[in-house]
Amino acid sequence: MDVKKRISELVELLNRYSYEYYVNDSPSVSDYEYDKLYRELEDLEKMYPQFVLENSPTKRVGDYASSSLEKITFDKPMLSLSNAFSYDELREFDNRIRKEGFNPNYVCELKIDGIASSAKYSNGIFVLGSTRGNGVVGENITANMKTIRTLPRAINKQIDVEVRGEVYMRKDVFEAINEARKQNLEDPFKNPRNACGGSLRQLDSSVTASRTLDIFNYTLVDPEKYNVTSQSESMEYLKNLGFAVNPHYKLCKNIDEVIKYLDKWGEKRKSLDYETDGVVIKVDDFKMQEQIGYTVKSPKWAIAYKFPAEEVETKLLDIFYTVGRTGNITPNAVLEPVMIAGSLVQRATLNNEDFITSRSLNVGDTVVVRKAGEIIPEVVRVSSSNQENSIPFKMIEDCPICGEKLEKIDTVHYCVNPKCNGRIKAGLIYFSSRAAMNIQGLGERLVEDLYNLGFVKKITDFYYLHQYREDLIKLEGLGEKSVDSLLDEIEKSKSNPLNVVLASLGIRFVGAKVAKILTRYYHSFDELLAARKEDLVKIKDIGEAIAGSVETYFRDNWDLIDDLICLGINPKVEINENSNRIFEGKTLVLTGKLEMFTRDEATAKIESLGGNVSSSVSKNTYLVVAGPNAGSKLEKANKLGIRVIDENEFLEIIK
Ligand code: IVH
Repeated sequence: MDVKKRISELVELLNRYSYEYYVNDSPSVSDYEYDKLYRELEDLEKMYPQFVLENSPTKRVGDYASSSLEKITFDKPMLSLSNAFSYDELREFDNRIRKEGFNPNYVCELKIDGIASSAKYSNGIFVLGSTRGNGVVGENITANMKTIRTLPRAINKQIDVEVRGEVYMRKDVFEAINEARKQNLEDPFKNPRNACGGSLRQLDSSVTASRTLDIFNYTLVDPEKYNVTSQSESMEYLKNLGFAVNPHYKLCKNIDEVIKYLDKWGEKRKSLDYETDGVVIKVDDFKMQEQIGYTVKSPKWAIAYKFPAEEVETKLLDIFYTVGRTGNITPNAVLEPVMIAGSLVQRATLNNEDFITSRSLNVGDTVVVRKAGEIIPEVVRVSSSNQENSIPFKMIEDCPICGEKLEKIDTVHYCVNPKCNGRIKAGLIYFSSRAAMNIQGLGERLVEDLYNLGFVKKITDFYYLHQYREDLIKLEGLGEKSVDSLLDEIEKSKSNPLNVVLASLGIRFVGAKVAKILTRYYHSFDELLAARKEDLVKIKDIGEAIAGSVETYFRDNWDLIDDLICLGINPKVEINENSNRIFEGKTLVLTGKLEMFTRDEATAKIESLGGNVSSSVSKNTYLVVAGPNAGSKLEKANKLGIRVIDENEFLEIIK
């Protein structure tokens, strides 16, 4: 195997998947598949550190923070966990710890499939709630967390404390909400976790309140302040303070007991009224945890065992194709309906041509389907092929909607006709969706109807819909009240910030993350209209393809942008002179013994201020923070004339 090539492939794939997941809100692979590829990359990087790429997803602490909620920087970063997919891997985890001379008790906790959150209490009163965000900076969701019925507003002791846990939506609540959404012609949520995330990040907390969320807490931050010395003790302590703690956690004496717990819960979890995707295994004793230590992203004293995805056999009846907003063609499977993980599955994504050919899938085959992470069902492999009745697969060559010849770029086929009705419709659906302008009440089906009726042919038409008020009221499923609230929502969307509007336009390669980067440098539509490729590529993380796509889009669509501006959609980025991203784009090096911060804390702080931390000094180093006993790095910095500061000075700067 060409390792370098495989690493680069994995980085590209994983970055694309996580982009689809966080930015487009539309993942093309299951969580399980993602985690496995991630793991393969981690292993290769460990063996071949010389090939680790700058843009590797393993270097990122968390997901993309989104939305316009206020940002909160954590005092202690919210780390994530590494995964184990088999009992062997779990035993390896145990062996690693035991080889270092430890003989730990483990706490097993069900891994709740929800949204990680932090809750701070001052004098026993709940004062600040936030999402995990990217692990360093989260989003302030205090008002929304106040609507969680299982989170106490006041605890049983008048103390200052931070607790962390998982906000989740019960399965029955999820089903009821989706039923109501269907009735209102809104897109259903994909799974309880997505529904929970969407509900928590609402700007209007009355919407969150209507969604009925719950929480289980599992982390007591700074436990030494309360004389709590182990994870099992902190679970009891949290319970006594009045927090909801999952009742099924267990203290195990060794890894065999852990495995017994996994055997039991692999099945039993299906009867719970909330979703779990694994078990978190933690060294119980806190002192031992600190001795075992951390990697940049996760503790070495804990691991998440992921339950294998449920697999079911069914028949591949047909393949149909959909056209995305950038013209991307997705093949989809029509399956003989089967129940998987509690829901009826009759469609599955087939991603692209290579996905189908590499699995030798043909219509008529019996295939294995799985619904990992309870997201989109996925065809894993053929279980038996009936050669006589199977129809050999051949990728289509023309767009199923407009008939244009398709072009293949990497693994994806594209319809390149900008006037293709399929692309236009998908673009309109995306524009109004939660991931983009977030126009409540303007779901997929309604947009399709509006398009077919000729009311909306391009995005600016949404803002003229009030002219059709009377016609809309007559549409099935809509009444006077819902039409007026829809028109209000459309009007409200005019005040979305520039990065949100930019990401909603459907410019190829420009989702939420890229839009955020661009709007750091281009502060209005006027500036974007004048953006040139040669300037765009100078921005970190903006490559040739993105730059070209942005320049071309604004050159070809100046009239549409002009219409948006005339409609009053002309957001400007306020340039804050006191902007606190003081290390933006800069590389810092930490060396010697830091006394006020752990390495992780200092790194997190630098990253939250826009910088990154490197392990070696070069002429590109901006600043070296040196503690006592600094050695060769300090010498090199002095030789290269790079500014060196001590911890006190660092503290002053970041203040
Ligand atoms: S402990 C440093 N315990 O799983 C330890 N996490 O894959 C941090 N999760 O981000 C987490 N149940 O959102 C922990 N009992 C549990 C959990 C749990 C669910 C989530 C959490 C975390 C993710 C890591």
